[in-house]
Amino acid sequence: MKKYLIAGNWKMNTVVSSAEELVNSIKLVLKPLPESIKVLVCPPFTNLASVKQNMGESSLLLGAQNCHWESKGAYTGEISIDMLKVLGVKYIIIGHSERRTYFFETNEILNKKIHSIFDNFVKPIYCIGETLKERESGKTFDILYEQLEIGLKNVKSSVVENLVIAYEPVWAIGTGIAATVEQVEEAHDKIRNKLIDMFGENANDILLLYGGSVTPQNSLEIFGLKNVNGALVGGASLKAESFIDIINSSLQLTQH
Ligand code: PGA
Repeated sequence: MKKYLIAGNWKMNTVVSSAEELVNSIKLVLKPLPESIKVLVCPPFTNLASVKQNMGESSLLLGAQNCHWESKGAYTGEISIDMLKVLGVKYIIIGHSERRTYFFETNEILNKKIHSIFDNFVKPIYCIGETLKERESGKTFDILYEQLEIGLKNVKSSVVENLVIAYEPVWAIGTGIAATVEQVEEAHDKIRNKLIDMFGENANDILLLYGGSVTPQNSLEIFGLKNVNGALVGGASLKAESFIDIINSSLQLTQH
């Protein structure tokens, strides 16, 4: 059965009280989900503990939005994977385009983070995506392949079942202009084939998420594509209602 992961990236939004409110509203309307559908929320670091506590016995999973690759030491302002693990973090978003753009994270840096995440038995959600300029100049797949080759360098094929890739065209993030279904399909098919080239048949188990202006209006069609296993949702994950509607799209496809 096709697997889905619906991940909410809360970015730099919510304080403890509003994060608790949001997770409680999601919990309240979340239907029981089959094993094949996982739902993840990724609040800011400061709200991880209280969100985890408020998740209670629900099936929700906890994720973080970044980490450092070292386990401890003199790295003022940074957060290690150990610190996240003890809070119940199961997934870590790596290489979001906002981190690449505003914090100058390179494919090489992201490769170090991905190795540390695997070494700590947590699951990386590795974000890749092209800018509008790169798409318009026909470089989309050169960029995506480079992000995959360098970011995933020396990753063993035995661990890739725990890898999640989020294809997020930079021009679609937070703009309200999602990629078309054809663009998502083309990118995801090519990403899957590239991963099979790199890791062999194990790459069929890698979850491929689409991200960039996902809403309840477009999620059903996008989730229906063969190589789409869910979404990394920004804006629409900050409202329980829209996030739940997106989750329900995967439920609808699973029940058919
Ligand atoms: P968006 O963000 O859904 O608001 O476009 C997606 C993301 O940045 O992960």
